[in-house]
Amino acid sequence: MRDGRMFLVAASALSIAALMVAQEPRQQGPALGASGEAGLAKLIAATSKESRACIKCHENGAAPVVVEQWAQSRHAENGIGCYECHQADKADKDAFQHNGFTISVLVTPKDCGQCHDQETKEFEASHHAKAAEILGSLDNVLGDVVEGPPALNMACAQCHGSTVKILAGGKPDPATWPNEGIGRINPDGSKGSCCVCHSRHTFAVSIARQPEICGYCHLRPDHPQEEIYAESKHGVTYRALIAKMNLDSGSWVLGKDYNAAPTCATCHMGATKDLPATHDVGTRLSWTLRPEVSIRQQAWQQKRNDMKKVCLNCHASSWVNNFYTQYDSAVDLYNTKFGEPAKAIMAKLQAAGKLGATPFSKKIQWDYFEMWHHQGRRARMGAAMMGPDYVQWHGFYEVAKTFYSEFLPEAEALLPGVTAEVVNAPENQWLKGLSQEDRDKVKEYYQKRYGE
Ligand code: HEC
Ligand code: HEC
Ligand code: HEC
Ligand code: HEC
Ligand code: HEC
Ligand code: HEC
Ligand code: HEC
Ligand code: HEC
Repeated sequence: MRDGRMFLVAASALSIAALMVAQEPRQQGPALGASGEAGLAKLIAATSKESRACIKCHENGAAPVVVEQWAQSRHAENGIGCYECHQADKADKDAFQHNGFTISVLVTPKDCGQCHDQETKEFEASHHAKAAEILGSLDNVLGDVVEGPPALNMACAQCHGSTVKILAGGKPDPATWPNEGIGRINPDGSKGSCCVCHSRHTFAVSIARQPEICGYCHLRPDHPQEEIYAESKHGVTYRALIAKMNLDSGSWVLGKDYNAAPTCATCHMGATKDLPATHDVGTRLSWTLRPEVSIRQQAWQQKRNDMKKVCLNCHASSWVNNFYTQYDSAVDLYNTKFGEPAKAIMAKLQAAGKLGATPFSKKIQWDYFEMWHHQGRRARMGAAMMGPDYVQWHGFYEVAKTFYSEFLPEAEALLPGVTAEVVNAPENQWLKGLSQEDRDKVKEYYQKRYGE
């Protein structure tokens, strides 16, 4: 109590402002006291003795905004203070002594999991938690060898996650932290960083529910989900009706708490009346579109049915089923006309010793990489999330241009005859010239349209 009173005397105008925000009515969660001072006193009194000491000192100069943000959080409303998250055991690798307390600056999924068991288990089971395991990939050869280690650290690791190393004394090594990569490998063995989506120290769910947070990583040129979504009717509707999205609500069930538009979180994580929310973003995907040739996920029908449960709140079953038919046909087109033939030709060139010593020594290897890793992903991902410009001009157009005007001629030059089977396949007959009938059609179209 004494701590609380002293805190109030020292309270600045800013912390009162923070408090007013904390007092805005929320749909769920405990109501705060009527007056500002009583509300603040209540917040502080509800925390532990240790946390009151952290607040008292930090409020007066050591990153004071942290305290203001914390005061706006659900954690503050529920008596969870600094110490509850930052406390550490002396035996922890990342523990250090701090003004009489044993704390750690890292707060890992293992720490959050003490109170949020279910979200943590789901997250740990997801591809997100494994995202730092990229050694051995072609992308890694690019970042680490072709480009250079600082690029790997400031680029790849900021999205995928670093391995956080701890110096003597318990503080993180600056070469490896700050880092909020989604699959960060923590000194306690846990994986990931919940802060990636739950910005500290408000931890407001409204931030995690917006597409912008996903777009920190999910953007151009090799996985332009943010741009695809922005182009889609879903994204356009979201922006226009954002005030109706109820993003700050405690409960956020589609069809009950909001209905204006779906965000990334709605389709990949959110709850509906008949589908629970999940922190494993892979549980509703039927394909994986990342590799050279797309592959079906395990138990893909089940996963697709779960995604459909989301769509069916706003669309009829024929609309949704027909969408999936169209989507599958775009993925099949990419696989069978471009992905599989190109992969087979690369294997033949490799076997004949025509490729360089590394995956990026010959021009054809760069072209092939761009075809599947950038252009082919854009086409497939555009189809998955209703972004027609990504399917066409950023997608299939680029794939076709690379395949026909660069990849095939380069392969043929390296090993004559290697492209014969592909060039003679029925879907590539157009290479031998359009029929007279097709040529007449084109001529007629331009005459009618432009009088040429
Ligand atoms: C007597 C004042 C005081 C108390 C009590 C105090 N802190 Fe601090 N804390 C500081 C100062 C000063 C810094 C350094 C700020 C800087 O470097 O800009 C700091 C830094 C930190 C850091 C960052 C450390 C780093 O190396 O990056 C964390 C985390 C932290 N405090 C948490 C806590 C927690 C949790 C408590 C309560 C258990 C607490 N503090 C109690 C004054 C205090
Ligand atoms: C819900 C858990 C939680 C609570 C409550 C919490 N923190 Fe943190 N804090 C974190 C997380 C997560 C990080 C990010 C560290 C990491 O990289 O893992 C962090 C980082 C920090 C940092 C260093 C990062 C920076 O930006 O400088 C400071 C300082 C800090 N916290 C102080 C505090 C203080 C003071 C309080 C109480 C007012 C507090 N924290 C309450 C979870 C929490
Ligand atoms: C000591 C227990 C405890 C710890 C540790 C803890 N939380 Fe919480 N958290 C709570 C409680 C209690 C609530 C409020 C009740 C609820 O919404 O479930 C809450 C609420 C939340 C919310 C909902 C916020 C909102 O706006 O509705 C998020 C997100 C969250 N916590 C994330 C985290 C993350 C991330 C960590 C670790 C960095 C963490 N928590 C650590 C107890 C804890
Ligand atoms: C802007 C953030 C960002 C950067 C920078 C980034 N990636 Fe990624 N990476 C992603 C995202 C997001 C995905 C998943 C895309 C998807 O599923 O559509 C991904 C996918 C991958 C995959 C495919 C994993 C699988 O399961 O098939 C590998 C491998 C990879 N990245 C390695 C790297 C390497 C190595 C670098 C640096 C040279 C790098 N990435 C740079 C965000 C990033
Ligand atoms: C990829 C982004 C992302 C990551 C990473 C993430 N979350 Fe969340 N989290 C969300 C979203 C989005 C919501 C809101 C979901 C909803 O309301 O449907 C949420 C909601 C929550 C809630 C509130 C649940 C409720 O019912 O009110 C808690 C608690 C939570 N997350 C904890 C965690 C913890 C702990 C971690 C780390 C293990 C974590 N989250 C990592 C995106 C994320
Ligand atoms: C800090 C970077 C980062 C953020 C933020 C992020 N992701 Fe990811 N995401 C990744 C990476 C990296 C991968 C690829 C992981 C791998 O395959 O190893 C990925 C993969 C995925 C996948 C494919 C999962 C699978 O099982 O194949 C989905 C879906 C996804 N993310 C959705 C989201 C959504 C929705 C959000 C926002 C709520 C989000 N992500 C936020 C980095 C991020
Ligand atoms: C209307 C629902 C919806 C919205 C909104 C949505 N997605 Fe998707 N997403 C899908 C569907 C459907 C698929 C394809 C699922 C399948 O293959 O069965 C998909 C696939 C993905 C994949 C997997 C790509 C791969 O590598 O296989 C990622 C990553 C992803 N979405 C991220 C996002 C992000 C980030 C956002 C927001 C910027 C977002 N999604 C918005 C429905 C949605
Ligand atoms: C919250 C409601 C909502 C959810 C959930 C939702 N949609 Fe939509 N969808 C809309 C709205 C609104 C439009 C725009 C309707 C219009 O143009 O009149 C739309 C448009 C579409 C379109 C037409 C796009 C175009 O190019 O015009 C398709 C296809 C579509 N949705 C498929 C899906 C699929 C598949 C899912 C599930 C993965 C889904 N939607 C989930 C609300 C939703």
